[in-house]
Amino acid sequence: TPGIRPLIAGNWKMHGTLREAAALAEAVRAGAAASPPAADLLVCPPFPHIHVLAVALLGQGVAVGGQDCHAAAKGAHTGDVSAAMLRDIGASHVILGHSERRADHGEADADVRAKVAAALAAGLVPVVCVGETEAQRLGGEAEAVVRRQLAESLPDGFAGIIAYEPVWAIGTGRTPTEGDIAAIHGTIRDSLAARFGAAGQGMRILYGGSMKPGNAKAILALANVDGGLVGGASLVAADFLAIAASA
Ligand code: G3P
Repeated sequence: TPGIRPLIAGNWKMHGTLREAAALAEAVRAGAAASPPAADLLVCPPFPHIHVLAVALLGQGVAVGGQDCHAAAKGAHTGDVSAAMLRDIGASHVILGHSERRADHGEADADVRAKVAAALAAGLVPVVCVGETEAQRLGGEAEAVVRRQLAESLPDGFAGIIAYEPVWAIGTGRTPTEGDIAAIHGTIRDSLAARFGAAGQGMRILYGGSMKPGNAKAILALANVDGGLVGGASLVAADFLAIAASA
């Protein structure tokens, strides 16, 4: 989108040791320093790796984010992590509403909305994921599903990033056609603009789901695709950097 600098974000999911995470982060930092991409970079490691990486990457042009947070500011929530805790240890972003959390932890749109509000209150930039299942796509419901997820997952006053991740494209090597990606991203832009006005026109809309060095350039060239949320390929520094270089 004209006037929006792309963001290439890596969702590392539940992978790696601390040593591996530090090495991957260092390889991304060094590669980006050697040949700066025309995109902002973000890596989202598992919780236990965030602080070490945030310290190592401070001021190095690679932001660090979490993959989830709790909706409450604090309290008796065994095993959970608050948005303020993420901010405190150096995270600037947090992925929320990823389809794996919606599926594995039963997160509904209302839960996601509460988490997004908590992230905003803590000063984190939320990266809110939406996307249809394969059955919904085949049933012709993709746009309606995404519209509903946006309407119900975003609180009033939302300021952040949207990631469109068709569930059936995650980790499968399959992607929608370029036309289908452009159509959904256009729908997302329309709903953001309708609800948030000029702010909605300026929000980044990322594509996620089997983004690889081989398909990134074509996807990132599409209208209203303002970057990528990369899973598997973000675990290989050269692939992540190649995707960033094609932005
Ligand atoms: O959040 C990114 C992710 O769900 C996409 O994963 O492995 O298909 O790039 P992958």
